[in-house]
Amino acid sequence: MILQTEKLQSGYGASQVLFGVDLTIEAGQVVTVLGRNGMGKSTLLKTILGLLPVRGGSVQFESQNINGWSTDKIARAGVAIVPEGRMCFPNLTVKEHLTAFAAQRNPKATQTWTPEKVFEFFPRLLERQNNMGNQLSGGEQQMLAIGRALVTNPKLLILDEASEGLAPKIREEIWQCLDVLRAQGQTILIIDKYVERLMKLADHHIILEKGVVVWQGDSEGLAADRSLWERYLGV
Ligand SMILES: Nc1ncnc2c1ncn2[C@@H]1O[C@H](COP(=O)(O)OP(=O)(O)OP(=O)(O)O)[C@@H](O)[C@H]1O
Ligand SMILES: [Mg+2]
Repeated sequence: MILQTEKLQSGYGASQVLFGVDLTIEAGQVVTVLGRNGMGKSTLLKTILGLLPVRGGSVQFESQNINGWSTDKIARAGVAIVPEGRMCFPNLTVKEHLTAFAAQRNPKATQTWTPEKVFEFFPRLLERQNNMGNQLSGGEQQMLAIGRALVTNPKLLILDEASEGLAPKIREEIWQCLDVLRAQGQTILIIDKYVERLMKLADHHIILEKGVVVWQGDSEGLAADRSLWERYLGV
């Protein structure tokens, strides 16, 4: 078991958002969190990452309770995020991004990913290695956001709306990269709206509705029950 939340509660100020979320991710699994806007998906990620305090229940990473750990400590334990909106630094080059994040790598993990490996994986980034973050296209920024997460050699890679705002062709390129990572055994937690594509990528799905898990299962189960799509996914 890589990550487990049990009865996890969290929120902002007076408003509670998560009302007891149970989620388990095994090593090598690709798991999605689905649900309409405002249902608590990003809040779940923020709580796992220690950006929001745990108000009830627990988060365990590799069987260790990490409630109350700083985001920094959680990152060094092996959790990396590709955040919503990518958050590339406008005034750092591609190469500088990768070098800076590689310095934050998990010292105990197998060092599979180096900046050089990322350049092999994303040849576009090699071409752009001396370009600043603000000189990149949306797709290139996304590749950089994934690449800089990979150079930390995470045990768990988390992506929040990685395909948002990308042209269909570029979006598919990103999905294919995730297919490759999955085949290499990378454990991934992913939030995205393209449920049909996620069903090809992921092993397990959970659906959040108002901060509660209302359904979970595999891709066949999700494909078989169209009422779930109408009720919880707005499609
Ligand atoms: N910083 C914040 N302060 C207060 N409330 C917030 C904050 N961020 C989110 N919320 C509220 O928490 C609830 C859950 O939001 P969250 O961002 O987790 O949803 P989401 O499922 O990620 O939605 P989306 O698909 O739009 O990204 C919403 O009602 C939202 O308005
Ligand atoms: Mg969100």
